[in-house]
Amino acid sequence: MADKKHFNRYLVTSALPYANGPLHIGQIAGAYITADIYTRYLKSKGEDVLFVCGSDEHGAAITLQAKKDKTTPEEIVDKYHGLIKSTFEDFGIDFDIYHRTSSELHHQTAADFFTVLNDKGEFEQKTIQQYYDEENDQFLADRYIIGTCPNCNFDKAYGDQCEKCGSYFSLKELIDPKSTISGNAPILKETTHWFLPMGKYEDWLKEWIIEGHKHDWKVNVYGQCKSWIEGGLEPRAMTRDLSWGVKVPLKDAEGKVLYVWLDAPIGYISATKQWAADNNKNWEDYWKKEDTKLVHFIGKDNIVFHCIIFPILLKAHGEFIQPENVPANEFLNIEGEKISTSRNWAVWLHEYLEDFPNKQDELRYVLCSIAPETKDSEFTWKDYQARCNNELVAILGNFVNRTLVLTHKYYDGKVPEIANPGHEAVRKSIEATPAKVAESIENYRFREALGNSLDLARIGNQFLAETEPWKLIKTDEEAVKEILNIALQICANLTVVMEPFLPFTCVRLRNMLNLDKLKWENGGSLENLKAGHQIKEPELLFEKVEDEAIEEQILKLNN
Ligand code: 2FM
Ligand code: ZN
Repeated sequence: MADKKHFNRYLVTSALPYANGPLHIGQIAGAYITADIYTRYLKSKGEDVLFVCGSDEHGAAITLQAKKDKTTPEEIVDKYHGLIKSTFEDFGIDFDIYHRTSSELHHQTAADFFTVLNDKGEFEQKTIQQYYDEENDQFLADRYIIGTCPNCNFDKAYGDQCEKCGSYFSLKELIDPKSTISGNAPILKETTHWFLPMGKYEDWLKEWIIEGHKHDWKVNVYGQCKSWIEGGLEPRAMTRDLSWGVKVPLKDAEGKVLYVWLDAPIGYISATKQWAADNNKNWEDYWKKEDTKLVHFIGKDNIVFHCIIFPILLKAHGEFIQPENVPANEFLNIEGEKISTSRNWAVWLHEYLEDFPNKQDELRYVLCSIAPETKDSEFTWKDYQARCNNELVAILGNFVNRTLVLTHKYYDGKVPEIANPGHEAVRKSIEATPAKVAESIENYRFREALGNSLDLARIGNQFLAETEPWKLIKTDEEAVKEILNIALQICANLTVVMEPFLPFTCVRLRNMLNLDKLKWENGGSLENLKAGHQIKEPELLFEKVEDEAIEEQILKLNN
């Protein structure tokens, strides 16, 4: 169900990816393409929308990668921040800002946030026993420990989470723990940390999520939150013994940094601040005004952090709004198996573009069509080929091409005039399309929205097939003028309803139609192209994907 309240501005966030490697298709299918569709649609409607993201440059993900590559965390984040940022740009993920958590502004923002909570007495300082690697003289964060999963016995489970069965547990439950740095069994050693007593917020979370978002949050998100809250919330340490990260801004906290899951979501705030400073805007409008709709796009492994921990932090701070929705996606598998970056079972986005230059929209299209909206879904190269050939080429590309070729053939590329408007049914379907697409997007049903958009091209194809202007031209020229006028209006409207999904294609189509960018409200009009308007020579919007290209990709996966 759509969020019914009226909002005057939107703040849309996509999970900050760790800057420890290139991006793969599972990531953009989860938290980026959908967010990009959502914000492009809102912008097309003329809404005040801010779309923020950035690199998550702290935490064990980074320091472990640096160790693996025998380099420093700084070098790792600089290298991958640049690659990730340009990959997003290449795929048309149109953030208003792509920031980074290693920036000075972020460090200051996160440290100040911690100080506010600390001054309000929101943390409990506790001395605990923690795993320690004696050989390396270092406390071990959860990710630095592997052992046997207490749930499924997988022997390479991380300290707090098993990638095989997906369960979360406390470090104490992990069987036979080992340090990933030295391989030794760690010892337990005392250390002091600042804990967030989350249990204090249980009643509020029950009211806000369990009661308040029963009907508008996705079932997968709501269910996970409900079981976390009802399972009871233990205090969680908000600091770590590490040298890489945002320093704890207190005198007695030497060698301690903020927990990456405290600092990362604050990255959304610091990104907003940077954007506001660059654009002469007020960042607080987006974070502190109740008429702002905050929406977090994430993958399912981030649900607890965005629906429970970050909201508690925002609530504890006291000045911030809460997310209105968190439309998390499930996971995307590839060719029957879970994506694994360590086994190279992934389709890397920058490599895809080397093999399929200028085919960003083809991948955007396929990933949106199969987005894991309600359950895990599956990417296969054969399905990619089938969708490109049978849908993009055969439906969208074919319709546009037939329309433009006939317009050039019969009318030298000039939009023909209509003498007596008819074809009531097709006109009505054209007019109804944008509202259908909008309804699906506003309900975060992007697969359905894409289907509704493509239906407009299907309507066009069916219209041409039924009216057969190529035959009618011999007997009824006036009728052909009307048919092609309507078909051209459909092409113009496709540049509106398809734009959130296929932005690159829509630029090319607008160029062929010699048309400026239209607003969403024009997406159902039959008057976007005036009679006599000159269109340009048509080019093919999509090329057929050949078997060899697909076989090459399948081989690449296996090697
Ligand atoms: O899971 C991840 O990749 C995290 N880097 C996501 C962080 S999202 C936000 F909190 F910044
Ligand atoms: Zn397990």
